[in-house]
Amino acid sequence: MPPLLEIENLHLKFKLYEGVSHVLNGVSLSVERGTRVAIVGESGCGKSVTARIILGLLQQRNATISGAIRFDGEEMLKNGRQLQRRLRGRRISMIFQDPSAALNPVFTVGDQLTTAIMRGGRAKKRKEAYVLAREALLQVHITDPERVLQSYPFQLSGGLNQRILITMALVNRPDLVLADEPGTALDVTVQEQTLRLMKNLTQEAGAAVLLITHNLGVVREFAHRVYVMYAGSIVEEADVATLFRDPQHPYTRALIAAVPRLTGAGLPKAIEGVVPDYTEPPVGCRFHPRCGFARPECKTKPPVADLGGGHRVACVLSQGIEPKELVDG
Ligand SMILES: Nc1ncnc2c1ncn2[C@@H]1O[C@H](COP(=O)(O)OP(=O)(O)OP(=O)(O)O)[C@@H](O)[C@H]1O
Ligand code: SF4
Ligand SMILES: [Mg+2]
Repeated sequence: MPPLLEIENLHLKFKLYEGVSHVLNGVSLSVERGTRVAIVGESGCGKSVTARIILGLLQQRNATISGAIRFDGEEMLKNGRQLQRRLRGRRISMIFQDPSAALNPVFTVGDQLTTAIMRGGRAKKRKEAYVLAREALLQVHITDPERVLQSYPFQLSGGLNQRILITMALVNRPDLVLADEPGTALDVTVQEQTLRLMKNLTQEAGAAVLLITHNLGVVREFAHRVYVMYAGSIVEEADVATLFRDPQHPYTRALIAAVPRLTGAGLPKAIEGVVPDYTEPPVGCRFHPRCGFARPECKTKPPVADLGGGHRVACVLSQGIEPKELVDG
């Protein structure tokens, strides 16, 4: 059986006034059914554009997308908007960063939830949809669903709106939930509640999740498998335990060293430098201007080394030398 979602060699460029911006540089990843996968990387690395391409939401005339995206074996890029529209909200749903931007302020929660249910084909009449909506809110521990259904989003707290978004994303029993920094517009406690709720509910429903985050602490709590993205490329992928136990790519190591709670002893170390300008990205390994291990051969794109057990690294240091020979940066 093919993976639920498979992305192969995805490239994205934008034609801008100042030149061509080469954002995605051959991204490949897959999500197996019922698993939680994370994409992690700094701001501007291309996480959100990847999610928007999967959903068919990146459609602007100055954007060129190439590569393949297969959902349940069906090619999405070639089959275009129709397929993506058919899948979106039904088999693939999404949760974004800011619930107030994702919910429509002029309709009640009840209107929005029942419309989503009817669009997903789970009910034909609004009355039936209302019953399902009520049930779904009880499932996310909303104890007074009637009041919530009759409220407008602005009458409810950010945390409640976030739970409504999770409800909306799961109500049509999708196979895949795409979550882009869920709850990060809210305070830390609500963020944690959001992730816990998402984890429990998707697990119960058997849905897979592709979580986008810049927070490695969140990855460790939430995901089974992780892809580390830097400047439009996947630089390392592994199951979560392996990544934290045996990170190989200098960028992954730097990300781990930059998280206060993960470093153990000592102060977290910020990564020096910034994500490159995509109109003139560094040749070869895009991390080389910031990498303490850079050498001349890094100016050609490093091949991906397979370390076994699904652990893959795109760095010249991992080409056939023992991991323990690497020195800490
Ligand atoms: N519509 C667009 N037109 C031109 N450039 C864009 C567009 N959308 C995104 N970009 C550029 O693509 C790059 C990647 O953006 P993206 O939003 O995917 O980053 P991200 O990894 O999600 O970052 P963050 O963690 O800040 O959300 C950025 O340089 C951004 O400026
Ligand atoms: S390929 Fe070279 S520049 Fe890139 S991370 Fe590895 S050592 Fe550093
Ligand atoms: Mg983003």
